[in-house]
Amino acid sequence: MTAASTTSPTSKTPAGTAMIEISNVSKAYRTDTIETLALQKMNLTVASGEFLSIMGPSGCGKSTLLNIMGLIDEPTEGTVSLAGHKITSYNGTDIARFRNEQLGFIFQSFHLINDLSVVDNVELPLLYRKVGSRERRRLSLEALEHVGLSNRATHFPNQLSGGQKQRVAIARAIVGRPNIILADEPTGNLDSHMGDEIMDILLKLNSELGTTIVMVTHDERMARKTHRLVRLSDGERVS
Ligand SMILES: Nc1ncnc2c1ncn2[C@@H]1O[C@H](COP(=O)(O)OP(=O)(O)O)[C@@H](O)[C@H]1O
Ligand SMILES: [Mg+2]
Repeated sequence: MTAASTTSPTSKTPAGTAMIEISNVSKAYRTDTIETLALQKMNLTVASGEFLSIMGPSGCGKSTLLNIMGLIDEPTEGTVSLAGHKITSYNGTDIARFRNEQLGFIFQSFHLINDLSVVDNVELPLLYRKVGSRERRRLSLEALEHVGLSNRATHFPNQLSGGQKQRVAIARAIVGRPNIILADEPTGNLDSHMGDEIMDILLKLNSELGTTIVMVTHDERMARKTHRLVRLSDGERVS
């Protein structure tokens, strides 16, 4: 079965069932001279509605794991299932649509498009769906309201603080109501006050909308606010 065949954008998986299943996943990066084993026989299940944090030293495979969960990277070995769908193909429009519908991404460096206004940035994921322009605008303004930035809709990214930029990125991640949010060090570029604000938004998203969240962090304080912490070292789980 291809990943997207039976999943609609609004389908929610009941709480408690597995939202993400990583089974025996290994990832090797090969260059001409060297092979790096970024992940080694990783097993990890994230339940629907869970907020999981991942910690570990730089280079231990945290981003690789997140990219594999997000179907951005293909495992060298092992299998990935999201929302009950085993991923069998990483190419083509089905997988692109599935990714667009199921997943929202948040990065340390925000990844906003500077030439687009705040609300236009937030609309981007909806452009890939057949959502009309008025509906796109309505949903985007709603997402901005969710992160407390309705009053910045027509600003441009370079007119915002770091914390505000990350809130725009969160609005963009949630505008399509994905089941899963993957956040790679979302507070890493922010001072502790702004970091707390971002964390509060993610916690609210998780508790109110039931969004499954996996967050990589270097901050023990942030990790303690989530349901569960998994530690990696050299591509393996150590807890
Ligand atoms: N595209 C790539 N090509 C080659 N090696 C890579 C690539 N991406 C990551 N790696 C290597 O895989 C390992 C894990 O990287 P990464 O997942 O980015 O670690 P972390 O996010 O924990 O800092 C590192 O040794 C890194 O150098
Ligand atoms: Mg990383």
